[in-house]
Amino acid sequence: MKQVIALLGSKRKKNTYRILIEIQRILENHNIKMSIIELYSEHIESCLGCEHFILEGSCVLNDDTTQIINKLINADGIILASPVYLQQVSGQLKTFFDRTCMWYHRPMLTEKPILSVATTKGSGLKKTLSYLESITIQWGAIPAGKVGRTIFTQDRHISEEEISKFVKLIYEPQKHIPNLNQLINFEIQKAMALYLNNLDREYWEEKKWHEQQYYYAAKINPISKYISHRICKFIQDKMKTK
Ligand SMILES: Cc1cc2nc3c(=O)[nH]c(=O)nc-3n(C[C@H](O)[C@H](O)[C@H](O)COP(=O)(O)O)c2cc1C
Repeated sequence: MKQVIALLGSKRKKNTYRILIEIQRILENHNIKMSIIELYSEHIESCLGCEHFILEGSCVLNDDTTQIINKLINADGIILASPVYLQQVSGQLKTFFDRTCMWYHRPMLTEKPILSVATTKGSGLKKTLSYLESITIQWGAIPAGKVGRTIFTQDRHISEEEISKFVKLIYEPQKHIPNLNQLINFEIQKAMALYLNNLDREYWEEKKWHEQQYYYAAKINPISKYISHRICKFIQDKMKTK
């Protein structure tokens, strides 16, 4: 059975939680088990900003973050779910995101589809869902759809269609075709890994990503390939002279 971990960024079991429960029922029909981690019930310290994790390979803080990170690494798919708070994700979800900063250097979720979920009274939905997707891309993971509700649409049930891409990618992640945004992100991460940090370089070389166009052998649009290549060359030249 495939396993999905949903991170819930609300203290309440209300609007966002309700959507997760509907998604959980649909996933069950596809033989996928979904577990919810309520982030506000977990002990997650704020990032100290020391960059120890990036530079030395381990975080100096000792709390529930490592356990959550391991669950995400072992999952077949992930859901990031948040209420809109002041046009953005909730504070606890952002605090957790900050603690994963090393994934921008040494990605660990590269073949995980991630579904973004957000609820709001009325404003900030598009922005928040886009932010969740940008985190997915920054982690090197696979953006697998967005589900959002406002007070005007909250009674609409989650449909099979809304999460069909997510379900498909849980079973066949490498069918995903990375878009230009993802390819550029990959090239920036690659340039940083090769020229700025030894730990990153070793990690990328071990995975053989430094010789690849993407984390896995994906179909790539030739125009996107050309543009991302030019950008890569430009960034690498800049970093070499740094
Ligand atoms: C601190 C806070 C900030 C909020 N900010 C916004 C906002 O910027 N725009 C908006 O339309 N709704 C905002 N809301 C409303 C929530 O986004 C909305 O009720 C959401 O569905 C709550 O999700 P939950 O039931 O899962 O906690 C805010 C609510 C709270 C408590």
